[in-house]
Amino acid sequence: MSEHTGSAFITPQILITDHTRPAERREATRRAHAILRSYEPPRAVPRDDERVSIPIADIDVPAHVRALARGAAIAPVWLNGIGGLTFRTDDARYIKWGPLDPEASMRDEAERMRWAHTFTTVPQVLEQGQDAAHEWLVTRAVDGRSAVDPHWSDDPATAVRAVGEGLRALHDTLPVAECPWDWSVETRLANAIERGVEIADDLRIAPEIDLLVVCHGDACLPNTLLTDDGRWAAHVDLAALGAADRWADIAVAAMSTEWNYGPGWSDALIEAYGLEPDRERLEYYRRVWNET
Ligand SMILES: Nc1ncnc2c1ncn2[C@@H]1O[C@H](COP(=O)(O)OP(=O)(O)OP(=O)(O)O)[C@@H](O)[C@H]1O
Ligand SMILES: [Mg+2]
Repeated sequence: MSEHTGSAFITPQILITDHTRPAERREATRRAHAILRSYEPPRAVPRDDERVSIPIADIDVPAHVRALARGAAIAPVWLNGIGGLTFRTDDARYIKWGPLDPEASMRDEAERMRWAHTFTTVPQVLEQGQDAAHEWLVTRAVDGRSAVDPHWSDDPATAVRAVGEGLRALHDTLPVAECPWDWSVETRLANAIERGVEIADDLRIAPEIDLLVVCHGDACLPNTLLTDDGRWAAHVDLAALGAADRWADIAVAAMSTEWNYGPGWSDALIEAYGLEPDRERLEYYRRVWNET
């Protein structure tokens, strides 16, 4: 198989992205975990119980990923919506690899991760690179499982609280005055227009900024890692990190509870964050997320 068919060996119906339709997302997440868990580990790869592992022989592991593993055993843990893959190595690294993406680059992510790492718990960047078609990012493994791990979809109340508190901690900790990047509505809309997206007129007028913070930029549940005793451990997936109104992140985090856990958890997340829901800003930033 070609090294450029990263998504070919996992059936397309398990593709899950931040843009997967909410109704499909929860089911897709469960199915993906079930499929991935049904494979036997190739060697002593998985770090614990249910983490994913697929026999290496059955996988079209990209040549770059093999090279980056430098002999370590690898197990896939995540497939994103554009065929990008994340692997865990048995020497505690994560290798993220995928096609170049006009919406986000791993070069940007590495830069932001290195900066954020000086203030809070995000993975340490080990290496990053790209060629004409693909890019990759290697990080040191953080101990924690994603908030969409089945362990947590079975206990949404604990997970939602931890994610809300984790988001609040991120916003309280990263120093916005020193943040070199911007994730404002203006920047996001301009970027969408460049990609050919048509913007509704009423989306062009953003609500007044409530509080400017360093936003995560993709604060959906899979991007918060939790400890096994139910506290937030770390944030990952930082390509869009930048200064913006805190509601830009809160809206996405709250919305993603619906994708991953079903209805009824959104306000609990906001309460854990420490605010009353601001319906107008939530609706506005949901729309910016969904329409750009
Ligand atoms: N350094 C790390 N330590 C622990 N887990 C990690 C690390 N890096 C990535 N992960 C795990 O791999 C998953 C995929 O990583 P990441 O979110 O960066 O990939 P992505 O393809 O950009 O995701 P998305 O589908 O949201 O676009 C994360 O949700 C997390 O569970
Ligand atoms: Mg992610």
